Amino acid sequence: MKSSDISTRANFNRIRYSQCWEDADVLLAALNIQPGQTCLSVASAGDNTLAIVASGASRVIAVDLSEPQIACLELRSSAYRNLSYDGLLELLGQSDSKRRSALYQRCRADLSAASRNFWDSNPGLIHSGIATVGKFERYLALFRQFILPLIHGRKRVRQLFLLESVDERADFFYAHWRNKRWETLSRLVFGQLALGRLGRDPSFYQYADEPVWSNLQRRIPHALIEQRPAENPYLQWILFGQFQSALPYALREENFDAIRRNLDALEMHCGSIEEVVAALPDRSLDACNLSDIFEYVSEPAYADSLSELARAGNAGCRLAYWNLVTERRRPEYMSDSLRECRELSATLHRSDKAFFYRDLVIEEVI
Ligand SMILES: C[S@@+](CC[C@H](N)C(=O)[O-])C[C@H]1O[C@@H](n2cnc3c(N)ncnc32)[C@H](O)[C@@H]1O
Repeated sequence: MKSSDISTRANFNRIRYSQCWEDADVLLAALNIQPGQTCLSVASAGDNTLAIVASGASRVIAVDLSEPQIACLELRSSAYRNLSYDGLLELLGQSDSKRRSALYQRCRADLSAASRNFWDSNPGLIHSGIATVGKFERYLALFRQFILPLIHGRKRVRQLFLLESVDERADFFYAHWRNKRWETLSRLVFGQLALGRLGRDPSFYQYADEPVWSNLQRRIPHALIEQRPAENPYLQWILFGQFQSALPYALREENFDAIRRNLDALEMHCGSIEEVVAALPDRSLDACNLSDIFEYVSEPAYADSLSELARAGNAGCRLAYWNLVTERRRPEYMSDSLRECRELSATLHRSDKAFFYRDLVIEEVI
């Protein structure tokens, strides 16, 4: 059986991501899913897989190495089935609630034994709101509670979201936001050492070809000036711990019913993408959400996975994946089986509200 070598280097026994940190709008535009198609998706916390479910695919195969991540997707999926839209937001921690345990009880019966056991053993996670409890989200909370107030007051942070034009935001960024404390403290918080140990995992940087902070220095002005912070749910969550004026795709009320209606299309596997793809017949996939999983593995392991995906993909099947600190692009010798959609990648990358990735790669099976 093929497994990913990252599963032996990092610990996958706790929730690492209680939200997806890739922009679902970009993902859907990249994959161009049509009703009736079969999709493969890294489960992570579940939001982006559920966005794919909304597209009307007839089969959505969600995969994650980590049981707790599968438990996140299962509980979200059960929440769409058993709760109202407002109940879903409460369970996630997006709105205040004193009845999260009761909401969980309404979802519990639909969970697998493993996921039920996970959530039953962790009532504190339910109590806090299930989208706030990943290792990564807790790290962001530390930044927000202890570091950000040393750099900017609440008023200044709020101001960032009120500025309408690029010129106003550029003036604000260079005159007020990017001060000495911002440079020093955010470099410390989002540098490899602290982020690697406390927010992600040191092994995720084993193949990095650039420090994470260098990439962020290029991307932060883009997110704060060229893009509109008021439309960016990911930036809002980082700075306020809640979405304010924008929500990710799966949490927008207008997408709730489309997700709920198609939940039977969703199947979940705890294991590696590599082993799931190896077991699929040729030409059986139409779209693949691969998060940034290729950054975690060596170049040869990445190339192997890519050729397997090209084998299992129908003609026209899109693969979408992100690079944060490691260059992962299809090797030239695969150009007869995979075509890079460079223009589309570049356009979507500019609008990517999960602004920290240095690259979005979209390939199409030929
Ligand atoms: C790749 S991580 C990325 C999260 C976020 N983009 C970041 O960079 O911090 C998302 C999920 O992928 C899962 N994962 C990583 N490699 C995998 C693999 N080879 N097969 C299946 N799941 C994998 C992890 O367990 C995690 O839940």
